[in-house]
Order: sequence, then structure tokens, then C-alpha cells
Amino acid sequence: MEPIVEPRGSTKTSTSSSSSRFFRSIVYKFGRTFNRNYFLPHDKQEQERNVLQHEISVEVHDGELYLCPVVKPKRVLDVGTGTGVWAVEFARRNPESSVLGIDLNPVPQPPFMTQNCRFQVADANDQWKYSRPFNFIHVRSLGEPTDKRRLIKSIYDNLAPGGWVEFQEWVLHAQSPDRSLEGTAFQRWNELMAEGVRKLGRSLFFVLEYKSLLEQAGFQNIVELKYAVPTNTWPPGRQSQKIGTLQKSNTLQVIDVYSLGVFTQGLGWSRDDLDKLLVEVRKDIENTRIHSYSTLMTVYCQKPHSSATASLDTSGTSPIRPRPSVTWSP
Ligand SMILES: C[S@@+](CC[C@H](N)C(=O)[O-])C[C@H]1O[C@@H](n2cnc3c(N)ncnc32)[C@H](O)[C@@H]1O
Repeated sequence: MEPIVEPRGSTKTSTSSSSSRFFRSIVYKFGRTFNRNYFLPHDKQEQERNVLQHEISVEVHDGELYLCPVVKPKRVLDVGTGTGVWAVEFARRNPESSVLGIDLNPVPQPPFMTQNCRFQVADANDQWKYSRPFNFIHVRSLGEPTDKRRLIKSIYDNLAPGGWVEFQEWVLHAQSPDRSLEGTAFQRWNELMAEGVRKLGRSLFFVLEYKSLLEQAGFQNIVELKYAVPTNTWPPGRQSQKIGTLQKSNTLQVIDVYSLGVFTQGLGWSRDDLDKLLVEVRKDIENTRIHSYSTLMTVYCQKPHSSATASLDTSGTSPIRPRPSVTWSP
């Protein structure tokens, strides 16, 4: 495995060896371009959806890019940076920070690149070999890592004492507070997705394991927050209407490609049968009589300053902790 070596004084998006490794990792299926180490496509359409999903996340968190109480982090790492939209925005809002975004794929040149942000092609599942530790590591919508314990250990080992890590992931399991989802094609699709993902050795609920894995790894001050994100514009209110509009579009854009691998490879469905189900599912996603939510979950925590000060040490942190606006337990 090629180690991740941080380029010194370089603003290039990738080294030549990582570029050639990237080209070897490209595969074409379902008429779209994929990296063989990740289940969603790597193309303009998916990049546009990632930017839409970024808008949802920022709106759900009332304009905040992160929720943990880290203060003025010098060195920041964004794992699975995608389009780099979070990394660039963080760097722009925090000019004193130096931000590195890593991804399996080269980052398309963002329109408003800032001096204090750079990118590197790297697989977060490989061994990390950074020359200096980070003060804040951010992981958003990475999906389920091949080995969660290994990723968490890499993060722990590469954080400075007192540094923070924040994960934000979707629990793609729609629920409704008034049973209006029951018996719908959308609910059937979601149950089949959970089963198919399980058959492929993964879980839609992997982020629910993070709190205990982080505790076992030695992290402290662990906070878990769940946000209910409406799947369309059914709830009233300006913010819910905005989030619902974005989330409907997000789901409709990803549902085909997200379902294809799981239904055909995990459940053995034909593409025709899946297409028929998806026609009904898309209607349900548009239907405001169905009151459903997905869960957007954040887990953040701190590496102790030293083993002797674990659990009570809050220096270098802000006392203000944003609270989720709508929550419930999936
Ligand atoms: C849904 S996108 C999210 C992008 C970004 N974090 C955001 O929230 O806008 C997931 C990204 O994680 C990247 N990714 C997945 N597995 C990875 C890995 N093992 N190492 C590095 N990047 C990875 C994918 O290439 C993709 O760009």
C-alpha cells in the first residue's frame, strides 16, 4: 500500500504516482464513472449533488460548518473531501487555519480556491503518514469505511493532544411520526435497501456504532446529535421548506445509482424490476401527504490532552454547543 505522504510547500492536487493509481482505479458501470473503492460515481452529476448536500448540511446546522467546540484549529484535515466545498469554505472562514482535503479522486478545481487550502489524492483506509498532527479532523458523508476501527485509530494517532474529530453521516432509513410512510413503495424500497446493504456486508446504520468505537479508542467528551431531515416539503416553516426542497432533489438525483448496485448485486434483482419499483418510489418522494424524515447524524469528540486529564479537560474549547432543531431516535 502506498503511504499518504503530505506534500511540503506544494499546491498540486496530486502526486504523479497517486494520479496513475487513480487512473488504474477508475471503472465504468451503469453508464457512469466510478472509483472501484467507492460505491457512488465520480462525475460532474455526483459533484453537483455533493454541493447540494453541502447546502442541506449547512442549512440544517443553521449556517455552521461544524458543531464541535474546537477553537482556531491550526491544522485541519477533511477526509473524503469530494468537491472540496467544505474544505474551501472552512479555509475561507478561518484564514489562520491550514486545511488539507483528501479524497480517492482528484478534486475538481473549486471556483473560489483559497491560499490556505490544498488537496491530495489519498485513500483514508491506507496507512496515514503525516509529518505533523492535526488539530481538527472532519469527516462528512464518507460512507461506511472498510474498517471503522482502523480509520478511527488513524484519526486518533494523527490528532494533536486536545484535538477534535467530527463525523457527519446520514442514516438513510426514512421514518414518519404519523405512520404515513407505512405501506408505501418508499418504505418498501428502504427496507429492501437495508437488507441488500446487509447482504453486501455493510449497514445503513454504521454511524450508530461510532460513539462506542470512539470511546474504545480513547476519545473523550463524545457528543452525538441527530437531526431529522424531511424528505420533501411536507412540514411547514421557511427552514423546513428550504431543506425539504433540497433534500427531495438530493434523493431523486441519487436514488437510481444508489439502488442499482444494492438491488442487482445484493438482492439479485433485475434492472427492469428495480426500474418499476423506482417509478413508484419517486412518486412517493414527491408526495407531501407522506410525512417522512431521514436522519443526519453528527458525532464529535476530543483526543485527551494527556491520559491523566481525560474526561474533565475542556481547555481550548468553546462552551457554546449548538443544539439540534428536530431530533428523535431511529
Ligand atoms: C458523498 S461524498 C462527500 C464529499 C464531502 N465530504 C462532502 O460532504 O461534501 C463522499 C466522498 O468520499 C470519498 N471517499 C470515499 N471513501 C474514501 C476513502 N477511503 N478515502 C478517501 N476518500 C474517500 C469519495 O471519493 C467521495 O468524494
